[in-house]
Amino acid sequence: MPVGTQATVKTLTPAQLVEAGAQMILANTYHLSLQPGAEIVAEAGGLHHFMQWPGPILTDSGGFQVFSLSSLRTIDDDGVTFREPRSGSLVRFTPEYAMAVQNALGADVAMAFDECPPYPAERSAVERAVTRTLHWFERCLAAHRRSDQALFGIVQGGVWPDLRAHCAEVLASADLPGYAIGGVSVGEPGMLIEKVVRVTAPLLPEHKPRYLMGVGTFRELAQAAAVGVDLFDCVMPTRVARHGSALLINATGDRRINLKNAQFRRDFAPLDTHCPCYTCRHFSRAYLSHLVRSGEILAMTLLSIHNIATLSRFSAELRAAIIDGSFTQRFAAYLQPEAEVER
Ligand code: GUN
Ligand code: ZN
Repeated sequence: MPVGTQATVKTLTPAQLVEAGAQMILANTYHLSLQPGAEIVAEAGGLHHFMQWPGPILTDSGGFQVFSLSSLRTIDDDGVTFREPRSGSLVRFTPEYAMAVQNALGADVAMAFDECPPYPAERSAVERAVTRTLHWFERCLAAHRRSDQALFGIVQGGVWPDLRAHCAEVLASADLPGYAIGGVSVGEPGMLIEKVVRVTAPLLPEHKPRYLMGVGTFRELAQAAAVGVDLFDCVMPTRVARHGSALLINATGDRRINLKNAQFRRDFAPLDTHCPCYTCRHFSRAYLSHLVRSGEILAMTLLSIHNIATLSRFSAELRAAIIDGSFTQRFAAYLQPEAEVER
């Protein structure tokens, strides 16, 4: 899922997203509740109609954003109070409020309101976060009103396998339509992400979607898919595009190039000769380099199209390799332990 925090995947129209191969997108309860507000989206006929996205949408609950984006936040067992950065006013999020907003936004998938502890954190703090996340989950379940909207639970537990297992077990007993692994990619080393996913994913029901939140790179996708993860979201492809970088992948590995580099000024080849995306069908690296150097907005659009097309194609290849049995052999390079220097 490309990330469309503010009900837009930055710089792209829905038609461009579809052509790039995006199937489902993510939007954020935290941002949309503050601007334009859930009522306006509901009056517009819901998020799909408001933003004219034809495919499925998942809304994150705000559980992560209130912890990562707000200052002066105080958390208690009932919810979180924080100062909203733009207006400076105090805002309160509770499980009931996060569900009311998500019900009004009307995405296909709503996420439970959770507490995502930072890394590193004391084990006792993570234990409290798991207890709170499970209590809040019960309240989300009770407050969830729409039979046409799936509610996914979120597994927390930091880097402790027993806390992850406990959280996964309680959520799995609720027989939900889907499950997420949260609290990863919060600053911990790549090896720990892989370990947490490896111990957590198999504890979640095999026949339900398993969603790894906020991840990731080609390597992280392949490693997580190898242990049963089905769904991902990440700002990386569109964020690096807005900073002038393109993702490249071939049989020998993946890399990131920055079009600002002098070597691309006279490079009249496409970003990737094998990529069928709109950008690669029409434009040269030299033109993209010129747009980036000139600070032109079109650079962001064209690089976002290519990066989303490249990650979508990689996901499709992971899927195809699972189906035809070639996964372990085909993605062997990504399934090795990560070298320390890479992160
Ligand atoms: N996005 C990335 N990680 C998380 C998480 O742990 N919880 C929520 N709600 N969203 C996330
Ligand atoms: Zn391309």
